[in-house]
Amino acid sequence: MAESHTRTWQRARVHAVEDVAENIRRIVLHPERPHPVRPGEHVDVRVPVDGGVLERSYSVVDASSQGTELALSVFRTPASRGGSIAMHALRPGDVLELTQPLQDFPLRVGAPSYVLLAGGIGITAVAAMAALLRRLGADYRLVYAARSRAAMAYAGELAALHGDRLETHLDAEGTALDVGALVAGVPDGAELYMCGPIRLMDAVRRAWAERGLDPTNLRYETFGSSGWFDAEPFTVRIPRLGVEARVGADESVLEALERRGVEMMSDCRRGECGLCQVRILDLHGRMDHRDVFYSDRQKAPDSRMCCCVSRAVTDGSGTDPGVRPGAVVTIDVP
Ligand code: FES
Repeated sequence: MAESHTRTWQRARVHAVEDVAENIRRIVLHPERPHPVRPGEHVDVRVPVDGGVLERSYSVVDASSQGTELALSVFRTPASRGGSIAMHALRPGDVLELTQPLQDFPLRVGAPSYVLLAGGIGITAVAAMAALLRRLGADYRLVYAARSRAAMAYAGELAALHGDRLETHLDAEGTALDVGALVAGVPDGAELYMCGPIRLMDAVRRAWAERGLDPTNLRYETFGSSGWFDAEPFTVRIPRLGVEARVGADESVLEALERRGVEMMSDCRRGECGLCQVRILDLHGRMDHRDVFYSDRQKAPDSRMCCCVSRAVTDGSGTDPGVRPGAVVTIDVP
């Protein structure tokens, strides 16, 4: 789970870019102040978009030993008009700002065995863990699920490195991951580390709880998660402050409100700490709760949301008349 970090920003030069799967681009960076990178670490990046800046977190997929060269991999969100498109537009020689490597997803060395689970772009958060476990001679399995072979980044490299410790699942080939079977097959005392779409992580969390497994042995990284629905633009209103803002498909309510000068509380900005929670007063559409802060029971009445990650989407029941199309969520802030 997220810790508070003191972030130090620095410049980094783009050294190389390469497509590694459908809509996934590897971006190799040379930071000004290199720092060794541990498995599970990420960097926050300031992405210039339309005269503004979005902050995005990306796992470090691999790095040289002293961190002089580090690689990110960025999934281009289909609905994106901002962050991921700007990242895909980077070319060698471009400069961008990023933090030192930050750790929210540490690998605990010494467990009797490990299951590493990646859904889609989530491989970026666990690939370095798998490489370290291999070097340590640990007992591990790397389970990698994706829609199709074309959408699977680094599949060849991972197969070469991990051999039969790598297990792949492809929806398009009828070998989709059976979460129940996966969790049922987790050896006693094993730790499971996962990163992927929220549906996948939610299913694993449920299966884990149903089997009564130790919750501290289940660890996850959330920022690669997509929601239950595709992101789409919507409107957020705060009547008490007379604010109405449009939330783009590639930004959060938190970012949209900050852009409008609304003072917001936040810390993790990835749906874990709950600091950014706001009260929902009215909703045209439905909520796509993308946080892991609330329980399912707390999410059900749609009375609160973590506005750093959760979004509103249309549900086909009509939208607020008189304004731009799309869902509308009316909130109050603390
Ligand atoms: S800032 Fe932590 S959940 Fe939103």
